[in-house]
Amino acid sequence: MRVLLVGPPGAGKGTQAVRLAEELDVPHLASGNLLREAIAQGTTLGHKAKGYMDKGDLVPDDLVIQLMEARMSLPDCEGFVLDGFPRTGVQAKALDDALERAELPLQVVLLMQVDRDELIRRITGRRTCPQCQRPYHMIYNQPKDNETCDEDGYKLTTRPDDTLEAFAHRLDVYQAEADELVGHYAQGGLVKRVHGIGTVDEVHDRIAEAI
Ligand code: AP5
Repeated sequence: MRVLLVGPPGAGKGTQAVRLAEELDVPHLASGNLLREAIAQGTTLGHKAKGYMDKGDLVPDDLVIQLMEARMSLPDCEGFVLDGFPRTGVQAKALDDALERAELPLQVVLLMQVDRDELIRRITGRRTCPQCQRPYHMIYNQPKDNETCDEDGYKLTTRPDDTLEAFAHRLDVYQAEADELVGHYAQGGLVKRVHGIGTVDEVHDRIAEAI
């Protein structure tokens, strides 16, 4: 399967994408995770991206496209769950072109819908594993063992862009780009809307049904 998850910050894209990718046995390709890895590794691209990310601005298209094309050119990418890329019309066109060349078209675009108050509750309670980047929530989606990752035992941290101020800006940025992006995929009949409120299991079941 080749699936794209679209939705506002905190909608649960990463939470659902990890699980879906495991079930479909395909890689989870998250632009935000790849950018944070580049920052952690101290690469030039990571250096350039950090200032944009901390403020909640979009990283310039050319940098994100370069990063995603490099990852998607690896042989494990005949199927995938894309999370957070593309986010702009320019990125969508670059992805279309790359997938057309590879003869691997997208099959479904899942638009996750969650209201602002719930997004704020999710963002303010989120903790993330600095190693594997799995997201947790201190009330809704707790790790088994206090503040460490279930997968690898690393101590969970708070993302620098999970402040209320950065969240509000990220939401504005998302809303400014979303119509064009969703319209692009709606033309091809690929978009399925998913009600994103409910437990992680409930949302997962809606996604499975939509697929
Ligand atoms: P990115 O990392 O992609 O962040 P985002 O899109 O803002 O989304 P989030 O990761 O905040 O939320 P999510 O929907 O994945 O929610 P999660 O599952 O964690 O991007 C970060 C930055 O990188 C951008 O601002 C930009 O600077 C840059 N960037 C990335 N991609 C780019 C691109 N293509 N172009 C340009 N720049 C780019 O869940 C949130 C919380 O809710 C967690 O605590 C979770 O445990 C909890 N939760 C999940 N599901 C539920 C549920 N059903 N009920 C209750 N709680 C839940």
